[in-house]
Amino acid sequence: MSKIVVFAGSPRTDGNSNAMVDSFVKAAEVKGHKVKRFDIPKMNIGGCQGCGGCYSKGRPCMIEDDFNGIVPDILAADGFIFSMPVYWFSVPSQMKALIDRFYSFLAGGKGTEVANKKYALIATCGAPDVSVAEGIRSVLEGCASLMKWKLVGETVVPGLSGKEDVLKTDGCEKAAALAGLF
Ligand SMILES: Cc1cc2nc3c(=O)[nH]c(=O)nc-3n(C[C@H](O)[C@H](O)[C@H](O)COP(=O)(O)O)c2cc1C
Repeated sequence: MSKIVVFAGSPRTDGNSNAMVDSFVKAAEVKGHKVKRFDIPKMNIGGCQGCGGCYSKGRPCMIEDDFNGIVPDILAADGFIFSMPVYWFSVPSQMKALIDRFYSFLAGGKGTEVANKKYALIATCGAPDVSVAEGIRSVLEGCASLMKWKLVGETVVPGLSGKEDVLKTDGCEKAAALAGLF
């Protein structure tokens, strides 16, 4: 069974992305996976300052916020779920700040430790076509290629605006099915 870290990235706590995350987490736990969920917009994780001090003082990042505290879970994970809505054709800023901070692994010489993990994407958007999620997919693909992470699946549900719209689709079932890919 796998250790899965879930990065829940929607600022709207009771919205579509989090409903899909809830379904994934339940299904993953039923399968016996060990899941650790972080609701990123509720955490204090700022953007990388580019100081280059990664791991130079014993801690992953020089910034003293919530990022360093989740690093042990990231390094110990077998895989990740990245969940988020499309914001302006891209990644919501809170999730982008998290991804920016992954720089510390590569710049700090932890590339081998952080490599060889799986990831899957759960995303939602308001537009009727999933192509607007390309901005999220390309950020994650670029990040994953440097980190040596493998995409195992994705569920992108378009046409969602009201916070419970996803319940009228099969999005939650599709999110739950991702649990079988870890
Ligand atoms: C600030 C903001 C920017 C958004 N930008 C886009 C966008 O570029 N393309 C799109 O299709 N939907 C966009 N949306 C709509 C959300 O992606 C969509 O409603 C999503 O389902 C919200 O997810 P949530 O319920 O998890 O919060 C935007 C919503 C907000 C609040």
